[in-house]
Amino acid sequence: MAIRSVEQLDLAGKRAFVRVDFNVPLRDGAIQDDTRIQAALPTLRKILAAGGSAVLASHLGRPKGKPDPAFSLAPVRTRLADLLGIPVALAAAVVGAEVRAAADALGPGQALLLENVRFHPGETQNDPELARQFADLADCYINDAFGTCHRAHASTAGAAALFSPERRAAGDLLLREIQAFDRVLHAPQKPFVAILGGAKVSDKMLVIENLLSRVDTLLIGGAMAYTFLAARGVAVGDSLVEPDKVELAGNILTRAADTGTRLLLPLDHVIATAVNADAEHRSTESAAVPAGWKGVDIGPRTAQAYAAVVAEARTVVWNGPMGVFELAPFAHGTFQLAEAVARCPGFTVVGGGDSVSAINRSGRANDVDHISTGGGASLELLEGKMLPGIAALDA
Ligand code: 3PG
Repeated sequence: MAIRSVEQLDLAGKRAFVRVDFNVPLRDGAIQDDTRIQAALPTLRKILAAGGSAVLASHLGRPKGKPDPAFSLAPVRTRLADLLGIPVALAAAVVGAEVRAAADALGPGQALLLENVRFHPGETQNDPELARQFADLADCYINDAFGTCHRAHASTAGAAALFSPERRAAGDLLLREIQAFDRVLHAPQKPFVAILGGAKVSDKMLVIENLLSRVDTLLIGGAMAYTFLAARGVAVGDSLVEPDKVELAGNILTRAADTGTRLLLPLDHVIATAVNADAEHRSTESAAVPAGWKGVDIGPRTAQAYAAVVAEARTVVWNGPMGVFELAPFAHGTFQLAEAVARCPGFTVVGGGDSVSAINRSGRANDVDHISTGGGASLELLEGKMLPGIAALDA
């Protein structure tokens, strides 16, 4: 695919429609983590410095296709204006005559933020009329919303397709994401190690299937490991298992063996009587979990063995925590893996909300080559899918 960068657009005196992903966590109207706003700044600064103006569009949460004050981008506007150091107006609506007038009034170096695009029912339906109204607001289109590229919505795939190739581009953040996943999936230096965790095998099945033929070693942790252990006939006690996925897990183990891919499962666990920080807990001697106990983290021997594999890797991709890392007694495995990934001299990519939050909390985020801003989007790339928001930028 050929995708233009912001530098390749003629921006002086022009208006850009910029799809960003400002879907930040909010609590009582306060932004809990502004990573996604920070991540869009380089692109926005480039547009404004080139003498362009920007009409910014984002969703926030999942409002039901109509205005809902709980999902207003007002808090985002305030933070964005602070970070950019310029006033940023928030349009009262997504599209319409007033929005059009506000966009027309923008001068070089100025920015307007549209209200949450999901306040309009046409956004998630990829309504062509809404896409047309978005496109009419600007001379060119820039997508920097990696986290939303797996959605074929009016402000992503719909609007992009209405601009000719020389008038559409990927922002810096999106280009970095594309390049990082491309390197991992299509030109990995070997050994290539994938670390997959999280609660459900079903969420990661397509990722495992896509990675199986690409990686040298797959390290499995998190609750999904118990479905694999169950497929091997290992006792899992009261651990979380997806009974309807045990057979599939067994097929994956067979395929891994057939293709010579090393698929490692936990050798020991931290087990607890309940998933709360005060519950009685201990490490097991083996991979078996006794009745009445649940696996809540990989055990110390597993963490050491996995870390040793990561130390030898030249390419690492990590998606999903190794245990219930939100609770301190069950966080050691995840943090040990975070430390191992941070130390690995190879090219390292962390994707997916929980593993990103784990690497951030471990304090080692700066030592990872690429931390993805996309949860669902990064998973779909790892599944081998082409994302509609990216496909629509093809030159
Ligand atoms: C995300 O947070 O993963 C993106 O912003 C996409 O949000 P969505 O799952 O509501 O489409």
